Amino acid sequence: MLHPSHSFRQTWELILILVTTYASVEVPLRLVMGYPAEGWILYLDFMVITIFGVDIIINFRTAIIVDGRLVSDPRTVAIKYLRGWFLIDFLAAVPFDLILIHSIGQPEADLARLISPTLLRALRMLRLIRLLRLVRLAQLLHRLGHRDLLNPAIMRLIFFGFWVSLIGHWVGCGWVAIGGIPDAPDPVTGYVRGIYWAFTTLTTVGYGDITPQTIHQTVYAIITMIVGAGMYGYIIGNVAHLLANIDVAKAHFRQKMENVNAFLRYRHIPAELQERIRNYYNYLWESRLGYDEFSFLKDLPRSLQMEVALSLNKDILERMPILKGAPAGLVREIVLNLSPQVFTPGDTIFHYGDPGREMYMISQGTVEVLGKSREHIATLSDGQFFGEVALLFHAPRNATVKAIDYCDIYSLDRQTFEEILNRYPQFASSVREMAENRKGKARSEQ
Ligand code: CMP
Repeated sequence: MLHPSHSFRQTWELILILVTTYASVEVPLRLVMGYPAEGWILYLDFMVITIFGVDIIINFRTAIIVDGRLVSDPRTVAIKYLRGWFLIDFLAAVPFDLILIHSIGQPEADLARLISPTLLRALRMLRLIRLLRLVRLAQLLHRLGHRDLLNPAIMRLIFFGFWVSLIGHWVGCGWVAIGGIPDAPDPVTGYVRGIYWAFTTLTTVGYGDITPQTIHQTVYAIITMIVGAGMYGYIIGNVAHLLANIDVAKAHFRQKMENVNAFLRYRHIPAELQERIRNYYNYLWESRLGYDEFSFLKDLPRSLQMEVALSLNKDILERMPILKGAPAGLVREIVLNLSPQVFTPGDTIFHYGDPGREMYMISQGTVEVLGKSREHIATLSDGQFFGEVALLFHAPRNATVKAIDYCDIYSLDRQTFEEILNRYPQFASSVREMAENRKGKARSEQ
């Protein structure tokens, strides 16, 4: 399965942005200019369709992030995709217009003589289905905006210019299509005058030199004015939002990301490592709005720390089979001494043979236990623990443990672990039993 932030996937998304932009400009343009799909235009058409088709296959083969966790099981990925974007991607990838036009068996240029203009127009309109991809374009641009290619404010300005130009183009094409420019000497002049009308109307300038003549055009002009007013509202709303920084958490997080990015650039950190660091912060944002529990807890008085820690970690403790029915004192002791850690996919939590200083409890995520020669021993996930063998037997780590996806893990240091075992012999014996078992298994695997 392809990782969503793999460099191939990112390059592919850039190609998709270019191709979708081309389709969204060319499709309405061809409708109003009426030129046939021949020669290089036909080749470009095939290229667009092929890329959209290949994208469907790639989507089936790309792991997805659900609630901040990486899902790479092909079945789950396929089900999610089929239930989500598949229909849109599929409809946009099928060249209904080309199939129908070519099934008639005549070059497109000759069709005008064979079928009625209305039917030909309807056939060509089928091409508009390809514009369904625009919904995806918005999503791709949003992701591109998170990639720190440019200053975020400049990026937002570029996106804004992009959408305004695209909307102007469509509105202009629509105006030409409904006969808003009847006396144009040639299609290019007609198109340019259509765009001129679109921008004067959208920006509410309205010189009034091109006015609606029919009822359809009047309705179209009214809708365009409403869209134009809406766009203004949107711009003003956005600017106000930016200025007021209403979303404090986000502003705080963005500031932090800008500092991190500046540091990464300044110290020339390798691109792949930069990507992992950014992914880590994005995960922090998605899973806990960028707040760091540890420093938050540290500022509280001890009594409150206990209550907050209990409430924060209630879920993980309830999910740990080994703590089922454990005395309240034991749970409290563990809770107060847990330190949260986040690991990103592929991180090694510790290596075989490292000295053991702490044990770990998985709150969320999956880790892989690998033997001395990196052979797979086990997979552990939510509610399970690891790293206890080295502490119990005062031995080096008997396996390497790697994070498979984003993992929220709590660690418990050796001293607290030993104190707890001394104080709670029943708990100690179940941990020891499990450790003996694992130790034996790990040895027999090697
Ligand atoms: P430790 O030896 O401290 O570090 C490696 C950890 O991997 C080990 O503790 C166990 O917690 C865990 N581990 C080793 N073998 C197995 C196994 N067979 N099944 C599950 N976990 C294991």
